Amino acid sequence: MATKIRPTGKEVVFPAAELIVSKTDLKGRITYANRTFCRIAGYSEAELLGQPHSIIRHPDMPRAVFRLVWETIAAGREMFGYVKNMAHSGDHYWVFAHITPSFDDAGKIIGYHSNRRAPDRSVVETAIAPLYAEVLRIENSHANGKDAVEAGTRALVDFVASKKVSYDELMFALQSAA
Ligand SMILES: Cc1cc2nc3c(=O)[nH]c(=O)nc-3n(C[C@H](O)[C@H](O)[C@H](O)COP(=O)(O)O)c2cc1C
Repeated sequence: MATKIRPTGKEVVFPAAELIVSKTDLKGRITYANRTFCRIAGYSEAELLGQPHSIIRHPDMPRAVFRLVWETIAAGREMFGYVKNMAHSGDHYWVFAHITPSFDDAGKIIGYHSNRRAPDRSVVETAIAPLYAEVLRIENSHANGKDAVEAGTRALVDFVASKKVSYDELMFALQSAA
């Protein structure tokens, strides 16, 4: 969703003991937001429910990351990753997110669920922010949106392949090694 909110460049952090939780329907519209989510993002529960999750999308996030998220969860798998989000004020906050499908008794995906905790600062600063900035630079060098996300995805996939582990393993290894 296009947002009129302008990034302030100011980061807000939240305590390691807190979890930001949300659930969405199959299209990524928010169906549940816990109090921590509302507080950190600066929205009331009523303002969030029914909105697309991109309401907190930060323009520094490469499209390729979200493409990977949606490909993974729509295929019924969970994933871990780092996301830079934008609060209502325009301030930003980084999270280490687990995103997973929710299934009904018949094994059909009925929605999605995400828990996030505060990421390790050094991982964000030394590994993730520079990687995302490079992927975004590559995406922005393409005028066509489809080409942009394809090129961004290639860059992201190449980076992970160069580490000889899966995307999840890499994300998790970075977070736990720090
Ligand atoms: C359970 C769940 C949680 C999500 N959490 C976030 C989030 O914290 N921040 C975000 O920018 N996108 C999140 N997304 C992805 C958004 O749905 C969306 O794909 C992304 O913001 C990019 O926006 P766009 O698809 O309109 O380009 C989440 C999606 C799901 C299904």
